Amino acid sequence: MSSLPMILLLSGSLRTGSTNETVLRTAHAVGPSAGVATSFYDGLAGLPHFNPDDDNDPLPAPVTALRTAIERADAILVCTPEYAGTLPGSFKNLLDWTVGGTEICDKPAAWVNAAAPGRGQGAEATLRSVLGYTGADIVEPACVRIPVDRGMVGPDGLLTDQEARERLRATLELLAGASAPRPGGLGSPAGGDE
Ligand SMILES: Cc1cc2nc3c(=O)[nH]c(=O)nc-3n(C[C@H](O)[C@H](O)[C@H](O)COP(=O)(O)O)c2cc1C
Repeated sequence: MSSLPMILLLSGSLRTGSTNETVLRTAHAVGPSAGVATSFYDGLAGLPHFNPDDDNDPLPAPVTALRTAIERADAILVCTPEYAGTLPGSFKNLLDWTVGGTEICDKPAAWVNAAAPGRGQGAEATLRSVLGYTGADIVEPACVRIPVDRGMVGPDGLLTDQEARERLRATLELLAGASAPRPGGLGSPAGGDE
């Protein structure tokens, strides 16, 4: 198991060719230079509609997988589009499923707003509010706006823009800095991998 901080990447878009997913895939690519490991959550489409009646043991398997992914992460990075002035319903549904568990409580969390300048503020405001309700620890300096347009995406599907990549790297570093040392990891009281 890696002793690097693990950051879970959550995209709010289900669209093929999503710009928000592009941002997170780029975060994955620059992760090693930020001293972090990243993991992309790809279960959004498979989550059932939230129903409090189902928020009991045994949980639906996709919900267990989501909560386990959050539990294993040291921090969370979200990148989501705005639909009709707020979060996509599917992503709000994901966040609703986190409320009944403890996995996200006090977990450092941040987002990248990849919308064009002046856009996406409704999603950002809702995300701030809902993450607050979930108990996540919003790391304000790590929350950034990185407007993405198609011209910034290379043939490998990643952002080519160096400034954008650098800002993503800084966000990952800030999230890692806000997370607790991993048990047994380098710098933890229990010692590290030798
Ligand atoms: C149904 C729908 C509603 C949208 N509503 C908004 C909106 O309210 N504000 C906004 O800034 N963009 C809005 N958009 C634009 C999307 O946020 C934008 O296309 C975004 O890049 C999609 O993200 P993705 O490429 O990751 O799928 C909307 C798009 C769709 C399809």
